Amino acid sequence: MATPQTNSPTKLSVIGAGAVGSSLAYAALIRGSAQQIALYDINETKADAEVRDLNHGTQFTPSTGVEGGGNIEVVKDSDVVIITAGAAQKPGQTRLELAGVNTNILKSLMPKLLEQAPDALYVLVTNPCDVLTVVAQKVSGLPTSRVFSTGTMLDTSRLRFAIAEVARVSPRHVHANILGEHGDTEFPVWSSAKITSIPIREWVDSTGHRMFDDTLLQQLGDEAMHAAYKVIAGKGATNYAIGLTGARLTEALMSPTRTVFPLSSVLDGWHGLHDVALSVPTLVSSKGVERVLDVPLDDSELAKLESSAGKLRETLSSLGF
Ligand code: LAC
Repeated sequence: MATPQTNSPTKLSVIGAGAVGSSLAYAALIRGSAQQIALYDINETKADAEVRDLNHGTQFTPSTGVEGGGNIEVVKDSDVVIITAGAAQKPGQTRLELAGVNTNILKSLMPKLLEQAPDALYVLVTNPCDVLTVVAQKVSGLPTSRVFSTGTMLDTSRLRFAIAEVARVSPRHVHANILGEHGDTEFPVWSSAKITSIPIREWVDSTGHRMFDDTLLQQLGDEAMHAAYKVIAGKGATNYAIGLTGARLTEALMSPTRTVFPLSSVLDGWHGLHDVALSVPTLVSSKGVERVLDVPLDDSELAKLESSAGKLRETLSSLGF
């Protein structure tokens, strides 16, 4: 997709007006992530109600307002299309268990979306987002730079929050990534994790005591990996954090400035991985994925990467991809 034309308003379309899609539209509205926001759902009544409710607050937001409904033409000429439609995890269910049903939904949806927005960047939020990124890319024939997923961008935010709580600093000063599957085989990259420019294992409290030993790091990694299960068990779905993730990513995809996030796109040789999508540090802009970055991984992290890729490939081949 070319950088959004200066003479046309930037447009985000959110596909699916469920908890995730409506929260993402809400977050984008509040943050002013796009000048135009559309919310589409096959359930016209639901989409209409969400659009009305969002618009009733636009006097207080920087964005102009939300259009939407059950007619897919609302997606027309979008710069960014974020797909949240599909079955969501039930308590205790893994994301990979949604692969079959959501692949079928996506296979029928992609051609209709491309008809309305042939030049858009496509972002998968629907799970399993890594698997569906490969499906969407194969079904659409889009270049791998224009179809990708939020992947572990949210998991990384969860990890940074957990580390920041312990260190009592702003999450903005925490530089630590979760890579791999957005799911049960994801892994934190402790070998390069830092707080400001201090390697995390060397971070000390006011008494000079090193705070982050292997036990605590393992606990923080597990906390981030299992966060969604806990939220789903408590309230039935996750929506606010993934909504904010999608809104922030939209801003990066509306700008020529290049930003780095852990995102999932179909890899072509990164650490020897091909034809699988999983999250790696990625340079994005209004051109989409510009480059996946070659970050150093230690042997244990490389092994976890391989295992994550293997799990995803297993699911992809079971779907015929
Ligand atoms: C979560 C969903 C988006 O991790 O997979 O909250």
